Amino acid sequence: MPERADRTHGPANSYGLAGRTAVITGAASGIGAATARLLAARGANVLIGDVDPAAAGTVELIRSTGGKADWAHTDVTDESSVAALMDRALDAFGALDILVANAGIAEPKGPLHTMELRDWQRVIDINLTGVALSNKHALRHMLPAGSGAIVNVASILGSVGAANSNSYSAAKAAVANLTRSAALTYATSGIRINAVAPGYARTPLVDGLPEETRSMMESRTPLGRLADPTEIAEAIAFLASDAASFMVGSILAVDGGYTAA
Ligand SMILES: NC(=O)c1ccc[n+]([C@@H]2O[C@H](COP(=O)([O-])OP(=O)(O)OC[C@H]3O[C@@H](n4cnc5c(N)ncnc54)[C@H](O)[C@@H]3O)[C@@H](O)[C@H]2O)c1
Repeated sequence: MPERADRTHGPANSYGLAGRTAVITGAASGIGAATARLLAARGANVLIGDVDPAAAGTVELIRSTGGKADWAHTDVTDESSVAALMDRALDAFGALDILVANAGIAEPKGPLHTMELRDWQRVIDINLTGVALSNKHALRHMLPAGSGAIVNVASILGSVGAANSNSYSAAKAAVANLTRSAALTYATSGIRINAVAPGYARTPLVDGLPEETRSMMESRTPLGRLADPTEIAEAIAFLASDAASFMVGSILAVDGGYTAA
């Protein structure tokens, strides 16, 4: 069994990520970009995998504040692309200590009987299979090292139902239970696997929805507002750090009270 992290420098140090290397999928914008910036600010080397070249903007922001970051064009539905991303972490930074499996898309919402199979498959491919592939290839490097922290990004819609949410809710519920099962598989190998379940946050994924949908999201959130992506990033950074050394297989709700009701 891995020993508890060394805390000889005091509790504050356990949140630090100095010298660690983090791979984050889907960090061109939104929660992933906020997480990349926060992990870098805490000292991590950051490697982003994204289909959107705007990921270069996140890298520039990190570098402009003295952080170390890079990105690689990566489609999380393509296994060879995901494998290459994880290999690159070792080539560029010499290790892979943290994975944040964050890439995801929204679905075309509507009643299930009108669902198009290709839409269903696209959401499952990115939001579920992409997470599984990212975990698989990160674990390939974490296992020989005997340490690592994985944070998967689920959703409140993986915990509770929502009318007209189909593939997205199904994928996020599956991510939560994949997280629990994988956490049990690797708990004694020094690798902690957890997930965050964000509530509604102000990101491009939500900005693209109709105004009435965004108003509904605000009114249904007990805090009465959407999250800033940095508020989700804080929970991810915690789970990725030694401060979360006893957390294994948790699905951490960061939702302004949404699922407490
Ligand atoms: N915004 C919310 O309210 C909310 C709530 C709960 C969960 N989430 C989850 O948070 C995660 C981040 O979403 P966000 O809101 O920041 O949205 P976003 O659209 O800002 O970010 C998603 C990122 O994933 C990338 N991406 C999409 N398909 C990809 C692929 N095939 N391969 C690699 N990268 C890909 C996008 O280019 C983008 O950078 C998602 O998993 C989403 O489901 C968001």
